[in-house]
Amino acid sequence: MKEHIIQTRIEELTPEELSPQERELVNRAKEATRRSMADYSKFHVGAALLLDNGEIIEGSNQENAAYTSGTCAERSACFYAGARYPDVPFRKLAIAAWTSEGKPEGMDWEYYFQRDPISPCGLCRQALLEYETKSGAPIELLLYGRDRIYRVRSVADLLPLCFTEF
Ligand code: THU
Repeated sequence: MKEHIIQTRIEELTPEELSPQERELVNRAKEATRRSMADYSKFHVGAALLLDNGEIIEGSNQENAAYTSGTCAERSACFYAGARYPDVPFRKLAIAAWTSEGKPEGMDWEYYFQRDPISPCGLCRQALLEYETKSGAPIELLLYGRDRIYRVRSVADLLPLCFTEF
C-alpha cells in the first residue's frame, strides 16, 4: 500500500493584515449580503469577485421555494462574471455571511457577521475550480469571519482529487 497525504495551506489573518485591495473586496462581500434572498434559510451570504480587468462583481445567495433551484453567493457571482466577461480571469473572491435569526433590535451591523470564516460548499468549489483551470491562474479566496479571516491561495487547495475531465 502507498499512502498519500494531502496538505492544505490556510493563512489566518486579522483585518489589519489585509491589503487595502483585500479590505475593499471583503467590504464588498459584506455589502453584498444585504442583497441576498434568504427567506428560507435566513442565512445571508455575500461574495465579491475581483476580475483581472479590475472590476468587482458581487453575488449573493438567491433562494427559492423549490429549494434546489436556489444558488449560493459564490456561484451567483462567478456565473454572472463568466457570462458577462467570458475571457477575463478571476483573481480573488471574498465571502462573508450572517444569519438574520436572533439578531436583537438595533444591533451594530459589524456584529451581524459570523465569528468564524464561511467556506464555499462543494458545488461552488467545483464551479470556481473550472474557471481557475480554464484561466490557468489561481483564484485566491478570502473567507471572512469577525474573529479571523482565512486566505487560501487557490481554489484547487480546497478541492484535492477533484473531478476535472471525462
Ligand atoms: N450558501 C452560500 O451562498 N454560500 C456558501 O458558501 C454556503 C451556503 C447559501 C446557500 C443557502 O442559500 C444558504 O446559504 C444556506 O445554506
